[in-house]
Amino acid sequence: MTFKTKACTFVICFVMFFSIQVVAEIDHIHFGSKNNPLQGVTITWRANQSFCNFKWGYSTNSEMEQVPPIEGRIEFGDKNFYLFDYTFPDLEPSRTIHFAIQEYNGTYECSQYTGQWTAVYSFQTAPGAKSNKFTFIAGGDSRSERCDITMPGWQSVSEALRNTNADFFIFSGDLIIQGGDKAKCNLWFDSGKNFLSQKLTYYSAGNHERYGDPTLSNYLNQFVLPSNGNFTKLYYSFEYGNAAFIFLTTEIVPTTDFGKEFMKKQTEWLTEQLIKYRAPGSNNYKEWVILCFHKPFFTVDKHEGEMTSFTPSVTPKEDTSGDYSTIWWKDLFDEYGVDVILNGHTHLYMRSVPILLKGTGPNGQDITFDEKGIPSKPVKEVQYGKEKNEGRLEIVTGGFGVKLLTEDKLTYRDQWYVARDKNGNPLYIMAFHYCTFNIDGKKMEMIVKKTEDNSIIDQLTIMHK
Ligand SMILES: [Fe+2]
Repeated sequence: MTFKTKACTFVICFVMFFSIQVVAEIDHIHFGSKNNPLQGVTITWRANQSFCNFKWGYSTNSEMEQVPPIEGRIEFGDKNFYLFDYTFPDLEPSRTIHFAIQEYNGTYECSQYTGQWTAVYSFQTAPGAKSNKFTFIAGGDSRSERCDITMPGWQSVSEALRNTNADFFIFSGDLIIQGGDKAKCNLWFDSGKNFLSQKLTYYSAGNHERYGDPTLSNYLNQFVLPSNGNFTKLYYSFEYGNAAFIFLTTEIVPTTDFGKEFMKKQTEWLTEQLIKYRAPGSNNYKEWVILCFHKPFFTVDKHEGEMTSFTPSVTPKEDTSGDYSTIWWKDLFDEYGVDVILNGHTHLYMRSVPILLKGTGPNGQDITFDEKGIPSKPVKEVQYGKEKNEGRLEIVTGGFGVKLLTEDKLTYRDQWYVARDKNGNPLYIMAFHYCTFNIDGKKMEMIVKKTEDNSIIDQLTIMHK
């Protein structure tokens, strides 16, 4: 072996050793829940050993409870990494919990390896499921472009979110450019780690989650979400305080037999949920019903009509939403007086006027849609609210770090369904932003802020009767 070869071998070994040290860290720490923000709260992390120890408590000293070793599951078809979940028992409201993680290789390996405990992390619990006063923040679309090797947008937004005081967060999808891209997945977790390791988030998958991963297996493996009693976590609900939150998916498209059956089940389940939370006299009646799913029914630019078009050729084949137009969730939303619908997909902030499709057309007819999915203009204006003669607040919030739309490229045709600001200008704004919702009994206040300078770009209060 020549000196040059030896030197190369040394460098390669050094790099390999160093790499092993790097990947041995505990990373990708993030919070989910199997239920509401106090019950079923689960922390998930990644390590490259197959077992981990976990300890936590309501203080930082030796009172911490140490749980039995946890066995990991393989991440992303890659035996070099394992994912771990720990589901907390029901958490006490308005407390700070502290936790730390340590990896080791269990008893099945030839040699024992025990890592260092991580630094102690902390997490603030929510004010209580019986509280009718709480705050949540919504947004979506953090993905990079295909060739980006950093995520400065998502990094800056996640830092802004980290400094908020919301009790939980809602992420309306398109986390990364391609759900099957492992490097991009790592980049997303690394760029958002300070936020993700401290805050609880509920997710709805976007179309980019299924690119390179058509069954959304990586997304479903990474995130702990509530169960809906069916076979999937792609749609689910939870109750918190005087509100019900319903998450749907627009990403199993009903263009195959499987997709049609999935959509049928999802719609039946949605109907059951809305009856449960909104039928008069229901024991589970909730003051507020809030929905989240990725693709909007009402939006501007190239995604306009994607959910309402009768002609699949209007949209790219992979995004064809087919039967959404005829299955017509929107009728259900009006029927049961959904309050808020949170979407992403279009890279801006946009607020709708109150949307009530039933009986607001000419001569009391319902609103109709042309074959491109463009809705006819109602002759009757309504207020936001849950009553039969009131309409839905539909928010497109796609500004968690993605490359934003720009005014010169925006296709906007002065649609009636875009709300106006006090100067009469359409309420769409291309900026990184987040939407804060403060619920206090029968009052809901929405404040939308730019992350750049925390300036308010939209504000609205809805009072229920
Ligand atoms: Fe999208």
